[in-house]
Parts: sequence; C-alpha cells; structure tokens
Amino acid sequence: MASSVVLAGSRLPRHIGIIMDGNGRWAQRKNLLRTQGHLEGLKSAKKIVKAASDLHIPFLTLYVFSTENWKRTAEEVGFIMGLVKQHLKAELDFYRENRIRIRHTGDIQGLPPDIARELEEAGEDTRSFEGLQVILALNYGGRDAIVRAVRRWLASCEKEPGEKPLPATVTEEAIRRFLDNPDIPDPDLIIRTGGEYRTSNFLLWEGAYAEYYFSELLWPDWTEGDLRSALAAYQERERRFGGRKP
Ligand code: FPP
Repeated sequence: MASSVVLAGSRLPRHIGIIMDGNGRWAQRKNLLRTQGHLEGLKSAKKIVKAASDLHIPFLTLYVFSTENWKRTAEEVGFIMGLVKQHLKAELDFYRENRIRIRHTGDIQGLPPDIARELEEAGEDTRSFEGLQVILALNYGGRDAIVRAVRRWLASCEKEPGEKPLPATVTEEAIRRFLDNPDIPDPDLIIRTGGEYRTSNFLLWEGAYAEYYFSELLWPDWTEGDLRSALAAYQERERRFGGRKP
C-alpha cells in the first residue's frame, strides 16, 4: 500500500513545492460546484501539511493562487480568498500544536487588504516555530517574483548613494538576495497533480534544478500515501545539477 512506502530518512528533500491542480475537475466529475472542489482541496492540503511535518520535511511551498488566477470568475476568486482567510483563522491551533511556521510568497500588495493582514498575522504568530515551514504562494507568479526582486534591488541602490547596478554586478546571487524569501533553499522536488505537465509559472527561478513528479490524481484525491510514493520516486532519482556521473 502506498502509505506503507518505506522512505530512506537521509534522502528526503529539504524543500517540496506542490502545484495542487484538479480541484475544479474533481467537483465537475461529481456534479458539484467548483467551489466544493476547492473546499476538498483545502482538506487535502491540511493532510499533506501534517504528513510533511511528521516526515520532518523543512520547507513546503503550496501554490494556492497564481497571478493568472484573477482571470477566474469573481465568485471563484472570492471563494478561494475567503477559504484562505478562514483557514488561517480557524487552524492556528493546528499550526501551533505542530510547531509549523507559515510564510508567504507572491505579491502581497496585490492581495485584498484583509487577506494580506491575515497572512502577515499568521506569519507573526508562528514566526518562532522551528518545525516545518509552509510557504503559501498566493498572488504568486514566477516571472512576477523575478521582476519584483529586480525592482527591490534597484530601489535599494537608489537609497545607497554611489551604489549603481553595473552590468558586472548583475549576477544570479545579486538577484537571489532580493527574492521574497532568500533564506529558503531551492526546492528539491516539485509535485504537480491533476495530470497536467506544465510548470504554470511556479518557482521558475528557484526550481531550476528541482526534480519534477507528476501525478494523474486530482488534488482532492491526494493522500499521505501519494506523497510517500512521490518521495520514494524522488529517492530513486540521480541528481547531477548539470554535472556528470562521478
Ligand atoms: C487548482 O485547481 C487549485 C487552485 C486554484 C488552488 C486552490 C487551493 C486550495 C483551495 C487549497 C488552499 C490551501 C491552503 C493551505 C490555504 P483548479 O481549479 O485549477 O482545477 P481544474 O484544473 O480541475 O479546474
């Protein structure tokens, strides 16, 4: 059984990213509203957060809402935002009990103010926790994240007289320092559910050397067993980071 997959503790990824795809199709297949699919998707997310925490995974980034998701109907957008807000309020005890820290990546200024406030408060309330760090990618786009990093860098140069971003100083490290969370290591494993084989603008910079794992299952059907299967597959991979086999 998938949940009994035995994992080598020493070769677990430090950082997992998940594109939680398939909520809408899950609902449609059951003749339910798409919003019902998001509700079930949230339940899956909580189960996977707990499983990752129990496995002592240090970082988990969840793709909750992309910069492109604003194209959905106002009703669906409003529902997802409401769900996130309610989840952060209602589940603080769950995060506290499991010593899980909540963080955010994405353009916080483009979020409705009450959602931005909720994210900031959840971040503050859990800041000291030393367990799993869950990064909610909300109003997130990989290209947008790079643009915002470059803008932050330029703004910081303007404040420092004499500091100019000369061509020679435009390096990967210089840009990395201005990403949303420069302290977080790059993802080792990116999982996408829902049978689609795209990156959809997720962790473009950080995911340069991530291993990808695609699942046909729709996100609301994902379980801890499926996470363990993905981790077992990851442990079989040989990571060379562009180099050659020793
Ligand atoms: C994609 O399904 C899923 C989303 C747009 C994200 C919604 C995610 C949640 C509600 C979980 C939130 C989790 C936390 C911890 C706050 P889709 O609608 O694109 O599915 P489809 O491709 O079948 O239409």
